[in-house]
Amino acid sequence: MSRLAKFDVVSIEDLETSDIERVFALADSFAAQLAQGDQITTAAGLIMATLFYEPSTRTRLSFESSMHRLGGAVISSADMHASSAAKGESLADTVRVVSGYADLIVLRHPHDGAARVAAEYAPCPVLNAGDGSREHPTQTLCDLYILRKKKGHLKGLTVALCGDLKFGRTVHSLIYALARFGANIVAVPTSGMDVPDYVLKRLAAERNYSFSTVTMDELKSLAGGLDALYLTPSAPHQMALFTGDGALRNFPAAEPPAALDAFYVTRLQKERMSGKEAGPAQYVRFDARALRTSRTQEAVVMHPLPRLGELAYELDADPRAVYFEQAAAGVPVRMALIALLMEKAAAASVGPRPMAEAIRFKAEPPPRCSNLNCVTRFEGAYLAPRFTLGRSMDATVLALKCGLCERELMIEYVGHARSHRYYHFDENLQGYVRQWIEEGSLAVFDSVKQAEEAGYEPYRRGPQREIMNEEEVVGAIESLADQVIADVPDISAVSIVGVVSHGAMLALRLRGLIGSKTKVLPPCAALDAYKPADALHPIDGAENFNVEDRTIILVDDVINSGWTVQRAMATIWQRGRPAAVKLAVLIDRGHRAVPIRPNYVGKNIPTSRGERVQVRLAAAGTESKSHDRVMIYSIVELRKEPEAAH
Ligand code: CP
Repeated sequence: MSRLAKFDVVSIEDLETSDIERVFALADSFAAQLAQGDQITTAAGLIMATLFYEPSTRTRLSFESSMHRLGGAVISSADMHASSAAKGESLADTVRVVSGYADLIVLRHPHDGAARVAAEYAPCPVLNAGDGSREHPTQTLCDLYILRKKKGHLKGLTVALCGDLKFGRTVHSLIYALARFGANIVAVPTSGMDVPDYVLKRLAAERNYSFSTVTMDELKSLAGGLDALYLTPSAPHQMALFTGDGALRNFPAAEPPAALDAFYVTRLQKERMSGKEAGPAQYVRFDARALRTSRTQEAVVMHPLPRLGELAYELDADPRAVYFEQAAAGVPVRMALIALLMEKAAAASVGPRPMAEAIRFKAEPPPRCSNLNCVTRFEGAYLAPRFTLGRSMDATVLALKCGLCERELMIEYVGHARSHRYYHFDENLQGYVRQWIEEGSLAVFDSVKQAEEAGYEPYRRGPQREIMNEEEVVGAIESLADQVIADVPDISAVSIVGVVSHGAMLALRLRGLIGSKTKVLPPCAALDAYKPADALHPIDGAENFNVEDRTIILVDDVINSGWTVQRAMATIWQRGRPAAVKLAVLIDRGHRAVPIRPNYVGKNIPTSRGERVQVRLAAAGTESKSHDRVMIYSIVELRKEPEAAH
């Protein structure tokens, strides 16, 4: 049982302005006591656990030093990969167990939203020491503390944020804090490394704040003819110096700032980029000349460290280079934060923060967070994705915000669980969707296919007519088999994957035809593009299904939007590296939302967007009287008559 009140710092926004002011005052006091060599016993008897699932020098050691300096004790796992996490223990279980051994937990984790999960499950306070690319609030406390010390205030300062603003978690927390304290931000992202939308949206919604984004050339103009900001190629030995005094084009303020007060530089967060993602061709580099112009003479250069090549070592001797002071502030500032927690416990003024209530979805599977690094994608079934309503600018999609990583998921199709009807979302439905959320009857779908697989019917359906009879369907499947055989030189290298459910039925029939025509029976699997686990499984009686180096024939009945096929292809590529993936569809409607073109087509049936093609296939090996046919009907979209919705 922790001796501290349950007060978590997952985001910098978990701290009130008065809390931050108190941390600064306490940090000043602790810094003075440390300088005098005083023995401090503020936290005597308290134990802090440090759980670092990612490498760290500053955050970990300064937190541990802080607790020792306060007279408390520290327990830790030297390497979380040598803890029971390596045996598959969940984060939720780990923090619950460790709460029994410590009064507070300091957590660093590679996944976005992990600190929020830990805070929810641990009975003791959790301090976020960096979660994925999301936030690093205690680094921001150090940054603000030093910036204010150097400048005397924060309000009205102009801070240029340079480098990787996409994955740099320290930058995200700092942006929220600078906005709160009334500083001006100029974002100078490396190409492709812009501040993410979810950060901008939160700033706009919660702080009514926005800022300018400029290129490095424009920053040089802003800085007044600055000629010492470099973009360096990421590959070594190809230094390139950009000295152009480019015209100021995009800076929306009427006047550029009179002076820059700080450059906050970050390294490229390579560890957040997937193996396939190419890094930027050039990256920002500062040297001593950066501070020589009229507009930068008073500027300090900040960096959360570690640095790579973005700050020249010659800059270190300049008193305006304050990055080592930021790192050193880690001890008094983190001592102050621990002391703040103790003050809150004494005042008994806090309890767990109420979470925004998550939407309860009907229809399986529930939506998945679109962020591949969201903690919900790694922690297993106990951690169901949770969403609240987001804020989309696009009237044709419903935005859902992940309650853990804050990324938004755009939903095209919504359904009403009682009427079992689905709708293409548009803003006319907004009020109904809110009502369905309240009554717990909202279902959401990525595609028409998913809605129909879940047993939902379109909102209103026009007359249906048969456009292919059994003979024509059988002929079209035979044509697909012939096209594959004619196109693929080596059938023994072919494996067939059918998209659940009609695509999988077709895949088995295609396999049978190819087998009888070539005497080679390709391996066959079904793929459920909306199932997180076990998405791809053999349906030909084999134990395993291998995609590596195979020519995969991906089979589906009809492409509507193309999203399902795109997702299926992504799933195949996650499984390994096939030699090729070719797409076979029974019906090509001629238009789709994503640019996917089938290689083999059973029949082209041009349709309008308001028309739906539905394939019905006889179930193989059953006594069912159903037979193959293809139907077409029109969807009557909900527009101005919403009272008929249910
Ligand atoms: N600034 C920072 O978070 O450094 P570490 O990764 O060394 O903790």
